[in-house]
Amino acid sequence: MDDAFDRLMAAVDPALVVVTTAVEGVRAGCLVGFHSQSSIDPEHYCFWLSKANHTYRVGLRATHFGLHFLPAHRRDLAERFGTVTGEDADKFAGLEVTSHEHGVPLLADCPNRMVLERISLLDVGGDHVNLATRVLHAEHGGEFTPLRVSDAAGLEPGHGSEERSIEP
Ligand SMILES: Cc1cc2nc3c(=O)[nH]c(=O)nc-3n(C[C@H](O)[C@H](O)[C@H](O)COP(=O)(O)O)c2cc1C
Repeated sequence: MDDAFDRLMAAVDPALVVVTTAVEGVRAGCLVGFHSQSSIDPEHYCFWLSKANHTYRVGLRATHFGLHFLPAHRRDLAERFGTVTGEDADKFAGLEVTSHEHGVPLLADCPNRMVLERISLLDVGGDHVNLATRVLHAEHGGEFTPLRVSDAAGLEPGHGSEERSIEP
């Protein structure tokens, strides 16, 4: 198979976001490039989590999520949330984090963000699962140029998409 699909996706060059959540005191969050608005009225937003990720496993039991848009100058946050797994390290350590009323960790460094309530989680057999959500709360913290996938070149994901946990 040629690499046409990869080249098309690279040309689109999506903005990067950090998705966070928490269940029973366990915080989780990872860098996400698969995400999109999916309804205008009501306001819905979809994102996709890798089955390999700690954030996915915590997210299976979560009802609410934070989604933070990264500005172009915060590649450090992409590295923090995209190259380390929450199984090995507390990615939130040293960051200013507030807890939304649903327990969602919100990053003070990322004022362009949303709080999302899960509508559905759909596994269609790929290496990522789809989470469809309703937008409970959106904050526009000022104009910004998004950090994009091309800006994250060289970052190695904390989990390869083919990895699976042996934990239940
Ligand atoms: C450029 C880039 C884009 C990524 N996009 C996604 C994504 O859309 N969904 C996802 O679940 N993981 C994505 N990842 C991978 C996770 O952010 C990464 O494996 C992370 O370390 C997982 O952390 P966790 O195990 O604590 O959840 C991406 C990583 C990079 C570098």
